[in-house]
Amino acid sequence: MQRTLSIIKPDAVSRNLGGAILKMIQDSGLRIVAMKMIHLSKAQAEGFYHVHKARPFFADLTTFMSSGPVVVAILEGEDAIVKYRTLMGATNPANAEEGTIRKLYALDIEKNSVHGSDAPETAAFETAYFFSGLEIVG
Ligand code: CMP
Repeated sequence: MQRTLSIIKPDAVSRNLGGAILKMIQDSGLRIVAMKMIHLSKAQAEGFYHVHKARPFFADLTTFMSSGPVVVAILEGEDAIVKYRTLMGATNPANAEEGTIRKLYALDIEKNSVHGSDAPETAAFETAYFFSGLEIVG
């Protein structure tokens, strides 16, 4: 059993796609064991994406991620990290497979509707960034 962090990004929340994306997550068999809607500050977005701070897209990414509410959730299941990354599709929606969240809903590589942890170490950091142990159920 594994846990991963999901973020439904501002472009998707603002288009009222939260419910549709959560349905895709639940239909895949992943279980939501923690969830909340928050509006990140720029500094909080920078802290979350600190591994990307040397990248040319860091400033735009953190401005976008703090531009409106997001839905953060912890997903649990067997191979949850890979399973959710497969469901999301490629980072750039132009390369995403049919039937994936990003193929269906993402607008471009920045406004790509969802985030998912990419490895067990990042999942541990990312889930703890948003949730305390008391907020995780199941
Ligand atoms: P995410 O999975 O949240 O992780 C980092 C984010 O940076 C990524 O999704 C994209 O939304 C964003 N991003 C913007 N430009 C790029 C780029 N050129 N390459 C990779 N990620 C990018």
